[in-house]
Amino acid sequence: MGGYQSTLGPVVWLAYGRQAFGKHGFDAACRRFIPGDVESELAGKHYIVTGANSGLGFEASKALLSRGASVAMVCRSEERGKAALAKLAEATGKPESFLSLHIVDMEDKDSVRSFAVSWLKSGRQVQALINNAGRIPGEERELAKDGSTESAFAIMANGTFLLTGLLRPAYVKGSRVVNVSSGGMYTCGLRADNFQLQKHYTPLLAYAHSKRAQVILSEQWAERLRKDGVVVSSMHPGWALTEGVRDQLDGFKAGGKLRSPAEGADTIVWLAAGTSSGDLEAVAGKFFLDREPAATHLSMAFTKEDEAARDALWEECIRVCEFDPDAAPGGSPKAGAAAAAGASSATSSDARA
Ligand SMILES: NC(=O)c1ccc[n+]([C@@H]2O[C@H](COP(=O)([O-])OP(=O)(O)OC[C@H]3O[C@@H](n4cnc5c(N)ncnc54)[C@H](OP(=O)(O)O)[C@@H]3O)[C@@H](O)[C@H]2O)c1
Repeated sequence: MGGYQSTLGPVVWLAYGRQAFGKHGFDAACRRFIPGDVESELAGKHYIVTGANSGLGFEASKALLSRGASVAMVCRSEERGKAALAKLAEATGKPESFLSLHIVDMEDKDSVRSFAVSWLKSGRQVQALINNAGRIPGEERELAKDGSTESAFAIMANGTFLLTGLLRPAYVKGSRVVNVSSGGMYTCGLRADNFQLQKHYTPLLAYAHSKRAQVILSEQWAERLRKDGVVVSSMHPGWALTEGVRDQLDGFKAGGKLRSPAEGADTIVWLAAGTSSGDLEAVAGKFFLDREPAATHLSMAFTKEDEAARDALWEECIRVCEFDPDAAPGGSPKAGAAAAAGASSATSSDARA
């Protein structure tokens, strides 16, 4: 069913990472950025950012707000979300009415559904959805609240799959979905016979595996949403010193000098806001580092999956999320998304709307 990894996987990842992912890599890459390339006028457009209260999500929200966008912050903690909302308004000088806070636990499918329902009911479009929420799980294998799946997989694979699909009726031609993955996925192939890691678990494996799944799901969603004119892509932020990296990886000392959170968020904003140099078709389905498409597998890592493994991932998301984007009444995925969203119970709340 496709490759897992060789013992060389982590070695080639670290060697590549030391050269390209830290501060040094960003400084070298930004010399080729085109000045003024990121769309600067986003007034009247709605952006949804998961995990917006901290790190890259906070910085991406700040950059979008400063360009005049409205930002819906999807956060799991009301307290941290409210504090971040006030900080964003202060930092950008924008009134708080440009921001809304939605309390959603991305590992809980009912919470994700409930948010999607409230969004669709509001009639607002989505210019871009940024699936940024993520974390390295604990030492012991943890399950999502409903017990259906391993926790990291629930947030980053299932949460990304479900929210992307349920919001489909709110996308317009030119909308974007940006999935924030990680170079950590280079260390690991898709485990199609063990998605939930029952047989072998470590926190870094669970993280890398769900990030690998997120990149494959991006490619799969890109194919499906292409006909709606919606562009889905994934990206790797490099190694940025965020709260998450400080707390969960002790600052990731092996990474050398790390990027700032704003530098880590640069390609998220570039993909989500739109560019003057970019061609939409060229971006769809691709995995980006520093505003350029990057390989999804490293040589000698032996991580490539086959078609059967990719199909199994899609099926696993359908099974866990109880949501099949293609099995809508009359073959209309839009109707399916709305129906699936409407079937949910309300377990998330909007702290400010
Ligand atoms: N920083 C890097 O070098 C780096 C490298 C590669 C990939 N990434 C990826 O970039 C993304 C952002 O990471 P970061 O470095 O900015 O870390 P961070 O500062 O820890 O931010 C992560 C955000 O995700 C939220 N989150 C986690 N679990 C959630 C859940 N179940 N439901 C809703 N929100 C949840 C966190 O909320 P709480 O505050 O409530 O925990 C926080 O807002 C992650 O997906 C991460 O894997 C980061």
